[in-house]
Amino acid sequence: MKIAILPGDGIGPEIVAEAVKVLRALDLALEMETAPVGGAAYEAAGHPLPESTLKLAREADAILFGAVGDWKYDTLDRPLRPEQAILGLRKALGLFANFRPAICYEQLTHASSLKPELVAGLDILIIRELTGDIYFGQPRGRRAAPDGPFAGAQEAFDTMRYTRPEIERIARVAFDAARQRSNRVTSVDKANVLETFQFWKDVVTEVHKDYPDVELQHMYVDNAAMQLVKAPKAFDVIVTGNMFGDILSDEASMLTGSIGMLPSASLNDREQGLYEPSHGSAPDIAGKGVANPLATILSAAMMLRFSLNQPEAADRIEAAVRKVLAQGLRTPDIHSEGTARVGTAQMGDAVVNALR
Ligand code: IPM
Ligand code: MG
Repeated sequence: MKIAILPGDGIGPEIVAEAVKVLRALDLALEMETAPVGGAAYEAAGHPLPESTLKLAREADAILFGAVGDWKYDTLDRPLRPEQAILGLRKALGLFANFRPAICYEQLTHASSLKPELVAGLDILIIRELTGDIYFGQPRGRRAAPDGPFAGAQEAFDTMRYTRPEIERIARVAFDAARQRSNRVTSVDKANVLETFQFWKDVVTEVHKDYPDVELQHMYVDNAAMQLVKAPKAFDVIVTGNMFGDILSDEASMLTGSIGMLPSASLNDREQGLYEPSHGSAPDIAGKGVANPLATILSAAMMLRFSLNQPEAADRIEAAVRKVLAQGLRTPDIHSEGTARVGTAQMGDAVVNALR
């Protein structure tokens, strides 16, 4: 089993190092190879996703990804910015199904910005379509406005679009996932305004005919944003497009206390996957040894379960994370009175010890 390790920028290298430590402690036959990505790759090779990194990613069974981005690259041409590395990997490998679970761990109920009773026991799964929508739709660019009250003025535009097969396959992923949970799917759209999302709603409804045992609800994205902070536990599986999923998954992450706890998996139709924490590169705390490595460690667990067919090893990691939280160990992002403040490496070491 070959894993491509792509640490990236900011806190990426620190948190990925802890996940690698945990993977090594499992005594599985894992081959790991590291390559630069994002700003780090731009510095080293002049491109955020060098050909050699992409080749390694293509050949691997799974990719463990840290984070990319730094404000210092904001002035680069778009194709050279760090974010293009993750967008390029998603597109090149066809990683269309993005799983973003939002689980509120018992010990962190009070770290949430919502009232404890609203989030206690929260366990929802956002399934975000990851290779279509306005993120990748062509055409896009700048031009002179061809019509309208400001015809001739400079304008910028993007294109929102989804094909039927793209919607069908992500809908199936969501219904299948719901069958492993409590059989409920909320499909989030903006069918009241957008042609793309009326089509989304129609296609999801059609696919649903094959899943009569699963309950399907449709919800507009603005209402979904509101319901997520009003009564988040009313949701089980949420399925939505690339852009709405980007926004709603950040919102959902905050329900759980810290975005530093949330893993993610991005899968293609060959069970190859890219696994990354849901948070970003946090350049402001990079190199200080204070970042929370648990989202990356939990992403490694998802990798073992989804791409490497090692469910027991995945269970062991998740149990070890619960154990260190029960021991009261906390990185600064989840620290509260009466718990022990630890750094990135200490947290990784504690997970390794808890595995044994
Ligand atoms: C995410 C991030 C990315 C996205 C950025 C870094 C391109 O926000 O994974 O949610 O918008 O998809
Ligand atoms: Mg995002």
